[in-house]
Amino acid sequence: MRSKIVAGNWKMNKNLEETLVLLAQLSAKMGETDAEVMVAPTFVNLAQAVQAVKGSPIEVMAQNMHFAESGAYTGEISADMLLGVGIKTVIIGHSERRAYFGETDAILEKKVKAALAKNLRVMFCFGEELKDRKEGNHFNLVESQLKNALFSLDAGAWKHLVLAYEPVWAIGTGETASPGQAQEMHAFIRKTIANAYGADIANGVSILYGGSVKPGNAAEIFSKADVDGGLIGGASLVADDFNAIIQAI
Ligand code: 13P
Repeated sequence: MRSKIVAGNWKMNKNLEETLVLLAQLSAKMGETDAEVMVAPTFVNLAQAVQAVKGSPIEVMAQNMHFAESGAYTGEISADMLLGVGIKTVIIGHSERRAYFGETDAILEKKVKAALAKNLRVMFCFGEELKDRKEGNHFNLVESQLKNALFSLDAGAWKHLVLAYEPVWAIGTGETASPGQAQEMHAFIRKTIANAYGADIANGVSILYGGSVKPGNAAEIFSKADVDGGLIGGASLVADDFNAIIQAI
């Protein structure tokens, strides 16, 4: 059975002090939930964040990593460095990495393989831009993102993958995909995986929706059959909002 997941991507927000305050607020106020709850602070605060959530159901994950084991890659972070501070899951392929840091499908494929080789779980992000949707090319685009970065993986790799469909036009814009649009795309993603790997693998993978999820729209989006949770940006920076979204699932 695939799990329900509510994950917060804090992006380039929250210094160390703010990170510890937000984590304390989250754990103090978090109600009962069946969902996995995860947050991704910035690299420099990961080690202390991991210590801070010990004993709570919150998992701390990373926002990115490099594909190389080690070496002359100034400013980059390896899988071993993440493992060394207790990280078990890494986000790969966020649209901001693709748009601002030139991460192509080919680079992302290398990152996914490098993470899985180290037994990290991968939360793989993808999604179309507004122009793709306007041109009616969104299904093709999403299919090519999946194929190019993930479909060379062995079937066994899929139990270590979580997918996050994040339409770029809905990220940080206040504009959300309608629950119907989200369900339509999530069902398409599952069908595309089923065609390549079979129904069991497709039905076992959690597919999260991301893009302007807020306390007011989360329950309806999460109620859709193929939506297994959310990857939350802005609203994950406010404890009450993130907790409300966790309760919505
Ligand atoms: P927002 O929730 O701020 O739209 O961000 C979504 C996102 O990019 C999560 O990775």
